[in-house]
Amino acid sequence: MTADAATDGLILARLEGYYDLAPRGNADTEEHGPLTLFVSRGGYPYYARPRLGLGDDVSAAHITAADVEAVLARQRELGLPRNLEWVDEVTPTLLAAARSAGLQVEECPLLVLDGEPAARPVDAEVRLVEADDPDLGRVHSCIGVGFATGGTALGKTGVAERDADLAAHPDGADRAREASASGRTFLVGAFDAVVGAVGGGSYNPRGDVAEIVGVAMLPAYRRRGYAGAVTSALARHALDHGVTTVFCSAQSADVARVYEAVGFRRVGTACIAEAD
Ligand SMILES: CC(C)(COP(=O)(O)OP(=O)(O)OC[C@H]1O[C@@H](n2cnc3c(N)ncnc32)[C@H](O)[C@@H]1OP(=O)(O)O)[C@@H](O)C(=O)NCCC(=O)NCCS
Repeated sequence: MTADAATDGLILARLEGYYDLAPRGNADTEEHGPLTLFVSRGGYPYYARPRLGLGDDVSAAHITAADVEAVLARQRELGLPRNLEWVDEVTPTLLAAARSAGLQVEECPLLVLDGEPAARPVDAEVRLVEADDPDLGRVHSCIGVGFATGGTALGKTGVAERDADLAAHPDGADRAREASASGRTFLVGAFDAVVGAVGGGSYNPRGDVAEIVGVAMLPAYRRRGYAGAVTSALARHALDHGVTTVFCSAQSADVARVYEAVGFRRVGTACIAEAD
């Protein structure tokens, strides 16, 4: 094994620990053979994933379609979305098992920050948005509107849609405020000098590992380096507050380039499988 492969193996082991730990603050767990089902106690519904340490257990590491079907049946019984998430390099037998069980599998580049985050100047203010910040709702709506217009292309959708989203879903901003107040998530926003919030993203620290999630820009404000700047600011804040491993998964190779420009490098493939 090369030194790089050994390093990536250690990093993937840290990420496995994170993936197992992150939902536990807000979920009960059920063990179903080689899979752990996380049952949310409210809010975001979680998923099933390979039991922590499974890769070390040769007899259990081979996951079959029947194992997947058993956990899907339990998710259906509980009225939960039927989905699984895992890292392909850690649990390689799950991909074929999930497909045999009829799941659609999205394979996303999994990236980890290598060194310090690059910080390039941009024509926007990029800053932490705390729970009591009056801009929090607008940043949250930018992220929602940004995800509703996927891909990385520029578009016409902008602040009118941001404000309509905020007016239509004030409860979303309330939940984001609670999450920020809990200290379990940190939000960074990008602000245009004229129109205010145009995008943002978050990171969720658990111990000394943090995942960057939900980075999105209003389509009218894309391709100006704002997402790179938001990602860099999130990583900087995490590193300055005790985090030593910062990672993220990208929805596509195009999105991965945004993270790579900040200094992230690919260490694996995050799989997200859904029944419908
Ligand atoms: C992915 C996303 C967040 C990127 O936002 P963004 O602000 O456009 O990202 P950046 O501007 O930092 O980088 C995008 C591209 O613009 C380029 N760019 C950066 N600054 C630029 C500038 N001043 N002029 C021209 N191009 C520029 C970058 O080099 C990059 O080019 P590439 O696609 O060839 O690699 C945005 O497209 C989005 O919201 N998509 C939908 C939500 C989503 O998928 N989020 C990611 C989830 S994992």
